[in-house]
Amino acid sequence: MKTRFTEMFGVEHPIIQGGMQWVGRAELVSAVANAGALGCLTALTQPTPEDLAKEIDRTREMTDKPFAVNFTILPTLKPVPYAEYMDAIIESGVKIVETAGNNPKEHMPKLKAAGVKVIHKCTSVRHAISAQKNGVDCVSIDGFECAGHPGEDDTPGLILIPRAADQLDIPIVASGGFADGRGLAAALALGAEGINMGTRFMATKEAPVHDKIKQRIVEASELDTTLIFRTLRNTSRMFNNAVSRKVVEMEAEGKSIQEIGPIASGQKGRLVYEQGDEDAGVWSAGMCIGLIHDVPTVAELVSRIVAEADGIIEERLKRFAS
Ligand SMILES: Cc1cc2nc3c(=O)[nH]c(=O)nc-3n(C[C@H](O)[C@H](O)[C@H](O)COP(=O)(O)O)c2cc1C
Repeated sequence: MKTRFTEMFGVEHPIIQGGMQWVGRAELVSAVANAGALGCLTALTQPTPEDLAKEIDRTREMTDKPFAVNFTILPTLKPVPYAEYMDAIIESGVKIVETAGNNPKEHMPKLKAAGVKVIHKCTSVRHAISAQKNGVDCVSIDGFECAGHPGEDDTPGLILIPRAADQLDIPIVASGGFADGRGLAAALALGAEGINMGTRFMATKEAPVHDKIKQRIVEASELDTTLIFRTLRNTSRMFNNAVSRKVVEMEAEGKSIQEIGPIASGQKGRLVYEQGDEDAGVWSAGMCIGLIHDVPTVAELVSRIVAEADGIIEERLKRFAS
């Protein structure tokens, strides 16, 4: 399946594994790359820029295919040395970066000077247009269904993807709610050049996520996510567990970020993946969790999605053409 995305990034399949805090590590990213799709290491999963450089080296030991690094710029309680992380990416010679969370404008000159291609992930057409103006190469447009940060506009992919396709000249990738070949075929029909998936890749053999959590993902339905931090205008879609419900309750009671922060901390979320206790903290999950019914290898998943999309385009859709 050749698209402007596969051509631009030199990969076989039009599929990205989006950045995932604590999950986007060398094991998963190299498996995605070896399966012919684009994997993303998550820069801030590494405690320091030096650790990120080592993780890039570790990934290279496991694959000789292209991979990206996700660079998420978000409000954090502890200041993050963003410039140093960016230097580590560039000095390591990585040629694809996925930016997210905030406008990547201030980092663009450095990235372009180093010949890095930038995929900016955002949740609105206006931010996508602004990213295109700032010189990004591709936009990943993330609908309301997505895990993590869906923004504050609540526009689902069915509207957002064709709206972005109409407005942008650069290739767009559809993100949020994709888990199978039907989604890939639909994304291509809506004007995207590929799909970005997070939640689906968590439930693969190679994802560094405890087996109990992978099983919980398989059991869950599309009703098992919840939105936290709506009141702070920093909305995040999380798995609906005791902790995310507590956070929503505290928000309704008007509790401050200082009071809520420790409960919703990323460090506690990390324990979920490491220890397999689904209630250890908050953890991201998208509505497509209802479409996930097994834990395949990454290679099985990627080839199944592409074959299914191919079949839908060749057979089902052709039947409707006059
Ligand atoms: C566990 C998890 C952690 C995530 N962490 C990040 C992150 O650190 N930075 C980021 O840009 N996106 C993050 N995301 C969002 C994904 O990259 C992707 O945009 C999203 O999962 C797409 O929606 P989907 O889950 O419906 O496929 C995360 C998603 C998950 C499931």
